[in-house]
Amino acid sequence: AMISLRQLLDHAAEHDYGLPAFNINNMEQIHSILLAANEVDSPVILQASAGARGYAGEPFLRKMVEAAIEQYPHIPICMHQDHGASPAVCQMAIRSGFSSVMMDGSLLADAKTPASYEYNVDVTKRVVEFAHAVGVSVEGELGCLGSLETGQAGDEDGSGATGILSESQLLTDPDEAAAFVAATKVDALAIAIGTSHGAYKFSRPPTGDTLAIDRIKAIHARIPNTHLVMHGSSSVSQASLEMIRKYGGRIKETYGVPVSQIVEGIRNGVRKVNIDTDIRLAMTAAIRESMALHPEEFDPRIYFKSAILAAQQLCKDRFEAFGSAGRA
Ligand code: G3H
Ligand code: 13P
Ligand code: NA
Ligand code: ZN
Repeated sequence: AMISLRQLLDHAAEHDYGLPAFNINNMEQIHSILLAANEVDSPVILQASAGARGYAGEPFLRKMVEAAIEQYPHIPICMHQDHGASPAVCQMAIRSGFSSVMMDGSLLADAKTPASYEYNVDVTKRVVEFAHAVGVSVEGELGCLGSLETGQAGDEDGSGATGILSESQLLTDPDEAAAFVAATKVDALAIAIGTSHGAYKFSRPPTGDTLAIDRIKAIHARIPNTHLVMHGSSSVSQASLEMIRKYGGRIKETYGVPVSQIVEGIRNGVRKVNIDTDIRLAMTAAIRESMALHPEEFDPRIYFKSAILAAQQLCKDRFEAFGSAGRA
């Protein structure tokens, strides 16, 4: 059944677990996520970006999610608009049947230029007004995502601000977060705590302080009833990178956010954990391997099935690690 983000995350907060929010663009990704959720009995957040709508087309995206709900009636599913760049985008998502929208007012409508606090409050507040009127949850974002290592936010395959950001932009301020939530009434807040979108997050292996855990604690203490969201949460499996390279892919050395650090974030108040890149990597590795090992095959179901199985395993691992398994 369709459920709002607020209902899902309230339950997660009450029982101290976190939920992965996986990005979807096609049927195979939706199948992977639901197969895994069904296996371990986890509620699900499916999220779609503007790019996903452009790729699949609005009716296909909507009908595929309806199909998931029909096929898995016992699993609570939240359909979330990821990174809405304007109130108009959020309004369109609500018309499409989404039960949750993100108004990302940390950036201007070009989805690249860091916005002022006042702009962010204004657009987010407007979305909360029309979304809450029809029972739809709202996620806002305060602070700009970017690596504390380099200050880089823009990367080759992720979305977000471009250019070099200062440390004060890269870490959400707890006082400002409290004021933002009071002014907008968002249900969930994406915070900047050292992660960035895409595969190229860190150039060196993680040392255990990838995330600004103290900052998560400080923000959670100020806004305990607002669910914290961590974007850019892919772990960038070295095994997937090796498989991609082994079968002809070209991906530079790079590292993601270790699952153990995400779990530490969940212990300190993070409830929604956004993951897109890890499914992309798992599927690409599996398809490359399948094609290389079975060069005589040309039925797409063969390599798509291997991609589904690889992504299913990844999703299952995250449901279990974040504690949402057994909570459906
Ligand atoms: O936050 C960005 C997500 O990974 C979605 O990426 O805009 O390429 O669909 P996309
Ligand atoms: P990753 O690129 O780390 O998977 O992050 C995805 C994300 O934050 C989508 O909003
Ligand atoms: Na989102
Ligand atoms: Zn994001």
